[in-house]
Amino acid sequence: MERKDVCIAPADIARQRDFTQQIRAMFAARQAHPAACVDTFGCQQNVADGERLMGMLKECGFSFTQDVKEADLVILNTCAVREHAEQRVFGNLGALTHTKKENPEQVICLCGCMAQEERVSSRVKESYRHVDLVFGPHALWKFPELLWQVYDTRKRVFSVADEAGTIAEGIPTVREAGVKAWVSIMYGCNNFCSYCIVPYVRGRERSRDKDAVLAEVRELVEAGYKDITLLGQNVNSYGSDLGGEYDFADLLSDIDQIPGDYLIRFMSSHPKDATHKLFDTMARCKHVAKQLHLPFQSGNDRVLKEMNRRYTRGQYLEEINYAKAKMPDLVLTSDVIIGFPGETEAEAMDTVSLVEEVGFDALFTFIYSPRPGTKAAELPDPVPRSEKQKWFDKLLEVQNAHSAAAHAAYVGKTLRVLVDGLSDDADHPLSARTEGNRLVRLKGDKALIGQFADVKITDSNTWALCGEAE
Ligand code: SAM
Ligand code: SF4
Ligand code: F3S
Repeated sequence: MERKDVCIAPADIARQRDFTQQIRAMFAARQAHPAACVDTFGCQQNVADGERLMGMLKECGFSFTQDVKEADLVILNTCAVREHAEQRVFGNLGALTHTKKENPEQVICLCGCMAQEERVSSRVKESYRHVDLVFGPHALWKFPELLWQVYDTRKRVFSVADEAGTIAEGIPTVREAGVKAWVSIMYGCNNFCSYCIVPYVRGRERSRDKDAVLAEVRELVEAGYKDITLLGQNVNSYGSDLGGEYDFADLLSDIDQIPGDYLIRFMSSHPKDATHKLFDTMARCKHVAKQLHLPFQSGNDRVLKEMNRRYTRGQYLEEINYAKAKMPDLVLTSDVIIGFPGETEAEAMDTVSLVEEVGFDALFTFIYSPRPGTKAAELPDPVPRSEKQKWFDKLLEVQNAHSAAAHAAYVGKTLRVLVDGLSDDADHPLSARTEGNRLVRLKGDKALIGQFADVKITDSNTWALCGEAE
């Protein structure tokens, strides 16, 4: 089928390596040691893209710095999901006029989801003339070529054409050293939830070949990564574009066969495609963490319909009940939007009541933010922000009380955790995650970092657990 059109040809990927060599040679000839500052905003998909950008930059000869003043190249890898995120980026871009004045050779680059929005790229073209390179997620794989064009011509380069999207295998990646790793299993989104900009900036759903995913996970396990998260906007629809029967549950089953001591997680899942087969598979597979992030967005059926979510409150609850019955220790999290255009107080309280009914371990809560170009942004939105804030506060109050109680119930228990680094608490200097991804701060030896350990939980609050390694 049309897979050939979706996958970038290996020869085109190889051509990008030629551009990395040209950039490397240019710096070597100048005896320069260039440094890049890569600032990533947004979701894990963007974090994974940031790791690919760094992989390509490393091959071009760059080292990395957090300090924009020291950087020869500054990259803002942006998120468009809410207005606030965009405003921050424009603020940061504005501030970069000063660093560029001090260092006119500095190259400034805007990429990620915001860059794919026509409204944003034209504004940058007109009003942020110190920005040298702008490209969206579709052009990420040809970053070396675009960067070479900037160095070669010293002209501004924009690569922001709208397209359905591609899959590029074999891009080098710089991963954060340690225990956690991200693996994209699919790109794009077909769901067009009426409030959401993602399908407009990330293109249509396309799944990576299962053998490529399996090989990457195997490589990570062999390299010592112990907590691997499979990424996609809706991983439940993995495979639907591949033309066969093979689905996300099958992929999990196959990954689970890879030998080693590791956990597999995934995000995000869409309730409309979450099947009993998926929950049965999660329950059966020993490497699959018993943790589910299943965003419900609203607890009211009218609002869900307006959001184009394609499930009802009842269907969502049925799924959760089934999953909990199969996995009694399941740790459940979700995303919620308060103040969708036209939502009434009673409808917002349906969301609060669903939160009370389900008892989520944690919630990611958002006040609706209009995104130009989406359907919801055209709807009348008469409720003032201050009123939405009250509903939001009520939601937080209910959730925080539940999180605190759920965490308190762990006190006295011994949990197996993965120690992933240092914490900011001097009394409990190590940071760890339970299988369900709950944060644990603990007393113990630094040598435990990177290891699974049994921890006695001694204390808790709304956001975290405290404990001691046994
Ligand atoms: N694909 C995932 C899903 O459907 O669950 C995640 C998509 S989005 C990157 C993460 C969350 O941002 C969404 O689940 C939603 O709660 C929130 N979000 C998206 N668009 C929003 C908007 N316009 N205003 C407020 N929150 C929004
Ligand atoms: Fe956005 Fe909906 Fe797609 Fe998630 S499933 S990325 S909320 S359109
Ligand atoms: Fe933001 Fe793009 Fe992710 S809009 S949330 S970075 S897919």
